[in-house]
Amino acid sequence: MATTSRGGFSNRLGFILAAAGSAVGLGNIWKFPFEVSDGGGAAFVVMYLLFCFILCFPVMVTEIAIGRHTSKNAVGAFHKLKTPRWSIIGKLGILSGTLILSFYNVVAGWTFGYAIEIIQGNFEIGGHFGDFVADWKYTGAFAVIFAVVTAVIVQKGVSSGIEKASKILMPTLLVLILSLMCYSLTREGALEGVKYYLIPDFTKIKLDTIYGALGQAFFSLSLGMGALITYGSYVGKNDNIITSATWITLMDVGIAFIAGLMMFSFIFSQGLGGQGGGAGLIFQVLPGAFESLGPILGRVIGGTFFILLSFAALTSTVSLLEVPTAYVIDEFGIKRNKAVVIVASIIFAVGIPSLLSNGATEFFSSFVTYFGADQATSFMTLVEDTASDTMLPLGGTLISIYGAYIWKKKNLYAELTEGNTNFRYTLMAKYIDFALRFLCPIVLGFIFVLTVLSKFF
Ligand code: PHE
Repeated sequence: MATTSRGGFSNRLGFILAAAGSAVGLGNIWKFPFEVSDGGGAAFVVMYLLFCFILCFPVMVTEIAIGRHTSKNAVGAFHKLKTPRWSIIGKLGILSGTLILSFYNVVAGWTFGYAIEIIQGNFEIGGHFGDFVADWKYTGAFAVIFAVVTAVIVQKGVSSGIEKASKILMPTLLVLILSLMCYSLTREGALEGVKYYLIPDFTKIKLDTIYGALGQAFFSLSLGMGALITYGSYVGKNDNIITSATWITLMDVGIAFIAGLMMFSFIFSQGLGGQGGGAGLIFQVLPGAFESLGPILGRVIGGTFFILLSFAALTSTVSLLEVPTAYVIDEFGIKRNKAVVIVASIIFAVGIPSLLSNGATEFFSSFVTYFGADQATSFMTLVEDTASDTMLPLGGTLISIYGAYIWKKKNLYAELTEGNTNFRYTLMAKYIDFALRFLCPIVLGFIFVLTVLSKFF
């Protein structure tokens, strides 16, 4: 029980910023736009927003409450609550986190590499994205740098590393994206993009759209894998969990929404609208957008953008690495420094096929062909889909069932009442109870079963 080496957040703002730092990352700025694009536009956005607020929010509250109540990692929390069988939630979470971090490192490496290219004025890189990612030695070097920086921050413990970085960088990123969004709206053709992004065509909703939007909501909010159980374990008793969760959700959804508006204005103003996207979308579109700012300003703004995006990714990778690390520290009594080295190395190794799956090797680049699909899917996309669209919502389903039926309302409410004395009389209390008991398990379970069936039959 190496609780002394776990650290804690210095105040509530520290927790909110760190948790928002975990939530806001590549999921908002890289993944969200291409998922919207692949999912057919505004209808996907509507589904995503509904999932975030209606289904994910109660799950988030439960995760934080379990974490704070137990002061444990994602697995230990369930042992402490004397429900050891349910630690399967935490174990599943550690597996999801490992898979997510394994490819996240690779994409974070791309953003870092792009920062360097754009600072040098290489705006043509947008057209050469395929060659860039196929060069696994070059992008691999960036992924290594990224993994090492993440490991060093996690080694330093919670409050000093994560908190300090989040406090400065998050607001800066927000200002930059907002400014870019305003600029993007002035571009010719932007209005078409705005329409595509905001006016839903519900006939476009297919099972895949729903499934993708749900996975995106979980991924973007860092939910369903115990990241917020782990972070919640560092939250003080006087903090109001509902308020904190509200801020985290609003910040995360807000940034994704603004980033989407910016991206679709740029995409349509470059005449690339409505073509789907895939993992290369922002990397193909943004260099041209920066170039249009002029050679000097384009380098400054573009370079800053990709550097800040790398930092946003860093605050997410830190939380992804923290989950398995906190588990290893608490459960095996290994010292933080050593635990980080072991865990980070394993995860990096798991990511090597993803690194090789973007053109470097034929085998990993066309790894499987989904049932009914006309094109093969890369190893990286397979890992990404499995972890975010299937494993995270499954984790979320289990957490809601656990919160409602195993841990029970009275304990959850007692935890939520700490730092929020009137909680049980609020409408929110009623909603959370209803959502955890019925809405989340039924809707999440239903989508899960349908999707699994659709993949195989
Ligand atoms: N939410 C992060 C992002 O949007 C990714 C993440 C998922 C982080 C799950 C932690 C846990 O980039």
